[in-house]
Amino acid sequence: MSSIQDEIRKRRTFAIISHPDAGKTTLTEKLLLFGGAIQTAGAVKSNKIKNSAASDFMEIEKQRGISVATSVMNFKYKDVLINLLDTPGHKDFAEDTYRTLTAVDSVILVIDCVKGVEEQTEKLMEVCRMRNSPVIVFINKMDREGQNPFDLLDELESKLNIKVCPLSWPISIGATFKGVYNIFDGSLNIFNANKTKIEEDIITIKNLEDPLLNKLVGDKDAEQLRQDIELINGVYDSFDAQKYRDGIVAPVFFGSAVNNFGVRELLDTFIRLAPAPRSRTADKRIIAPEEEKFSGFVFKIHANIDPRHRDRIAFLRVCSGKFERNKFFHHVRLDKDYKFSSPATFMAQEKNIIEEAFPGDVIGLYDTGNFKIGDTLTEGENFMFKGIPSFSPEIFKEVVNGDPLKSKQLEKGVKQLTEEGVAQLFIQNNGNKKIIGTVGELQFEVIQYRLKHEYGATCNFHTMQVYKACWITYTDVAEFERFSKYRGHQIAQDKDNNYVFLAESSWVLNTLIADFPKLTFHFNSEFKTDI
Ligand code: G4P
Repeated sequence: MSSIQDEIRKRRTFAIISHPDAGKTTLTEKLLLFGGAIQTAGAVKSNKIKNSAASDFMEIEKQRGISVATSVMNFKYKDVLINLLDTPGHKDFAEDTYRTLTAVDSVILVIDCVKGVEEQTEKLMEVCRMRNSPVIVFINKMDREGQNPFDLLDELESKLNIKVCPLSWPISIGATFKGVYNIFDGSLNIFNANKTKIEEDIITIKNLEDPLLNKLVGDKDAEQLRQDIELINGVYDSFDAQKYRDGIVAPVFFGSAVNNFGVRELLDTFIRLAPAPRSRTADKRIIAPEEEKFSGFVFKIHANIDPRHRDRIAFLRVCSGKFERNKFFHHVRLDKDYKFSSPATFMAQEKNIIEEAFPGDVIGLYDTGNFKIGDTLTEGENFMFKGIPSFSPEIFKEVVNGDPLKSKQLEKGVKQLTEEGVAQLFIQNNGNKKIIGTVGELQFEVIQYRLKHEYGATCNFHTMQVYKACWITYTDVAEFERFSKYRGHQIAQDKDNNYVFLAESSWVLNTLIADFPKLTFHFNSEFKTDI
């Protein structure tokens, strides 16, 4: 029987992030093909709402179904057990992606070589940096006329605020793309557009002066490559794996996911470099994965796709010890013990009941309303994992009941949907005034639709003029009271009863920060890890 240490060593848990359309779905599918988890391309449905016309509810419903099935994909590659956590592509679901990033040990970031670093990529990387997540960058679509690779690297460094280190280098680009030179081991990978075959033409050359290089890519491109590599050696430090694991340096690869090009190279490097499950910080102490006793936390809650049941699935990341089916575990927040008779993994529409799970694994637990995002399960000890912050939403609306006879249903629906993480709930006047905050408009439609169909409640929304929500802490009670007198109508409480200030503009916020020096304004709900 293998020990917990062996199980941990074998596991890699990561997410692929990208701006929509950069190639996340395509890359995911290719990785699954290499891992033998699927046999044909097209087996993984794209987990995204293609056009942003927000009113296609059927599409949203379908989405919910698909994203349960593809939430966690596990496959084996060369003795390594890989857990790939899916993140929604649509920007309105960015909050969901942020939370998923709390459950992974590393990240692969996909960049479109034509578009470079896009807005959403910057936001996602902020979250990675906050957690010091190791990041590997895959610059995709090299078969298209993209930007100069040196410019792309500069853009990555300046916009994402991370040092980069190219581990492969493209030979030409677009219609004349010839392939990549692997800087790490000096091999050549010759490009050949092919969407079905998964083998690559890897050719070993002695060194860059090898005449074989000229023969393979032509004199002009061979010379360009020699110059590029000389420049790279002069500009970039040699690769330091520890700095990658500490989240300081991101290795960069070039390829074309749709053509299966550069994907194997990426995967081979990934399993070699990416960290196995690591220690995690809880409120009372640091929890090492190899500890004998089980612990884990819920980072995502999904409504069950079966509309006849109100059951939900709570996704739990195992952090230490061994999870076992039908064994009692301690729900720290509720101070109650629960056992789970059908913990499951989901894979390409298939659900499998599992008997045990180890650090790095993600399991789906059937939930009848006991879990909130951020909940911790242990084998008895009382501690809560940290690192699952909420960020300020971008759009704020007050919930207005559309049917006074259904106010109980509305209350329950709003509570449960926000616990699922569909949106954030802020309350005022002892719960009489409810404000919902989201990253995008789409959520309001989802909420309205689900309230009606799952809870029989109707509601309308009143848009509020809020620029940002800031969590407030203070040491001086009198100062907070003075602030409350002046700005009480803009103070609400979040799901954990923390005080949140809803600022109407950045100017007002900055003025208040200066005027009330004894209050601290935080830009996420986990105060000690502000970015
Ligand atoms: P996403 O999940 O990040 O949103 O992106 P997705 O993989 O769906 O890819 C977006 C589009 O980019 C797709 O085309 C996909 O085929 C294409 N693509 C992915 N990798 C490459 C590549 O290496 N080279 C080129 N030229 N294109 C690539 P689509 O037309 O939107 O969808 P589809 O009909 O082809 O599936």
